Formats: sequence, structure tokens, C-alpha cells
Amino acid sequence: MPRLALVTAIAAAALDDDLVPLLDACARAGIATHVRAWDDPTVTWSRFDAVLLRSPWDYTERLSEFLGWCRHVSTRSNLLNPLPVVVWNTDKHYLATLADLGVPVVATRFVEPEMEPLPTLQAFLAEHPDAAEFVVKPAVGAGSRDAQRYSRDQEFAAANHIARLLEADRSAMLQPYLASVDRDGETALMFFEGRFSHAIRKGPLLQRDEGPTEHLFAAEEITARIPGKDELALADKVLAAATECVHLQSPLTYARVDLIRDDDGHARLLELELCEPSLFFLHAAGSADRFATLMADTLRRSASAS
Ligand SMILES: Nc1ncnc2c1ncn2[C@@H]1O[C@H](COP(=O)(O)OP(=O)(O)O)[C@@H](O)[C@H]1O
Ligand SMILES: [Mg+2]
Repeated sequence: MPRLALVTAIAAAALDDDLVPLLDACARAGIATHVRAWDDPTVTWSRFDAVLLRSPWDYTERLSEFLGWCRHVSTRSNLLNPLPVVVWNTDKHYLATLADLGVPVVATRFVEPEMEPLPTLQAFLAEHPDAAEFVVKPAVGAGSRDAQRYSRDQEFAAANHIARLLEADRSAMLQPYLASVDRDGETALMFFEGRFSHAIRKGPLLQRDEGPTEHLFAAEEITARIPGKDELALADKVLAAATECVHLQSPLTYARVDLIRDDDGHARLLELELCEPSLFFLHAAGSADRFATLMADTLRRSASAS
């Protein structure tokens, strides 16, 4: 029987709602599946035919250690998604690359630790006169950690937030707060091997006048959603552009495309998740089985290639 490792983190295993449905579905698909933490040094990764990233959610503050681990695993097993994809996707600078390729992304200004002089908040706010609020968040981040929303008159607090990130040698991002999220939420579209599987609505995560979450990720309000035709078309465009960026020959094993509508109602890319996305199996009947069947095919292909 092919052996698959589902990768979590010691700190995250109990928080990953996808693990149990995925384990059950893999059992039905005839895959021997084991949950392992990326930060458990006792694991021998070469014993697995494939190593699937699921919830290694504590990597954001030790990215180089995590990418070193990914490099190690990819020389010993079939890392999914593959190493170049993970390297490219764990830093939200990929949004700038996708924007250059014509993808409508949420307007983003990056502030880098080495920038001299630093771009000012006033300049950013002047570029977005209609934004009542804006967001500060780290370029390497997950689960809304270290992300916060500010009104235009909270420049002082926001500048402190940016300074804290830069002092920790982290790049910061500034975006207008897209207020449609408060009413309509964001849409996350799940794709398996490049094909759309299902979508969910995620409620707004950043509360006014509330500091960033202290937890590994902010509590999320999730419901099933049928995406708009425009959202599906945009997600396809995002995946095509991403595949071009990472020079991938085969479709991505899994992908999640997160979209929010701007003030004009146009869907924009907030985040493309190719490393460790929650896939919300519990919100779409049959989705875990669909994914496990694809994994079984992938494992069969890797076995016949080796
Ligand atoms: N520009 C924005 N406008 C509205 N909401 C935002 C914006 N940026 C972030 N958020 C909120 O913060 C959450 C986390 O931000 P996101 O960019 O998805 O980073 P991550 O999920 O990697 O922490 C989003 O799900 C959304 O609720
Ligand atoms: Mg997100």
C-alpha cells in the first residue's frame, strides 16, 4: 500500500479540521496515511511515497528553517506541492509578480526592512483617498497573525505596527481595507490538480480596534458558497499565471484562491495559497474523497516512475 505523510506542526495538529476527513477518505482510497509534524526531528521522511503539506502553520516566523526542511524532504520523497512552488508562495511578494502578469490583485504597497527612506503612510493614503480603512500585515504570514485593520486617523498605531515588523526583519504590506468583506465575506475557491472542486465564504477576520490574533490563526466563520462566474474565471487566470511563474509542467496538486470584491464590485486576488491552505473538506460533501482519489493516482504514478 502506498504511504502518505500528512504534514502538520506540533502546535497545529489539533486545530486542523481537514485532517480527520482526509484520513478517512485516504483510507477509503487505499492509502496508508500518517500524520506527522514537520518540526518533529524523529521522523524519517524517506519512508513515505509522498509528503503532503497540510497544516505546518507555525512556519511564518521561522521561514528559512521551514524551507530548509522542505528542501530536505524533497530530496527524499515527493513533496506536495513541490519545493519551487512552496518557496515562491510562502512570501506574499508573489502578489506583485501576479499583478505584473495582469492579475487584478488587492492594491498592495510593500515596505521592506532595507528601504531608505521608508515610504510614508501619508503617501499610501493619498493614493487611496476613498479607503476609509487600511490593513497592515506581514509579507510572510498566515492565519491573520500580525494583521490589523486601521482607520485613516490611526496613522500612529499603524506606523508602530510597520516598525515592529521591519525591526523583526519582516517585510510589511499596506492595502486598502476592502469593506465589501464585512457584508459579503471573501470567497475561497479550492482546486485539485487544476480543476475546481468547491468554494466557501469566509467571514471578515479583522475586527475594528482589536489587536492581531494571539492564536495560531484567527477563528473563522465558514459557510459553503457557489462562486460567481467572474470569480471562477479570475481563479483560472490566477492559476495559469502562477503555473507560468513557477515553470510547472503538471497542474498543482492543490490550490486555494482567495478573492474579495473591491468598491466597484470587481473580484480581486487577496491570497493564493499553494503551501498549507485549509481546504474546508467538511463544507463540501465528497470533496475529501475527490482529493484522496487524486492522491492515490499521484502515488501510483510516483511508484511506477521510481
Ligand atoms: N485588504 C484587505 N481588505 C479586507 N480584509 C482584509 C484585507 N487584508 C486582509 N484582510 C482580512 O484579514 C484576513 C487575513 O489576511 P490574508 O491576506 O488572507 O493573510 P493570511 O490569511 O495569510 O494571514 C483575510 O482573510 C481578511 O479577512
Ligand atoms: Mg488568508
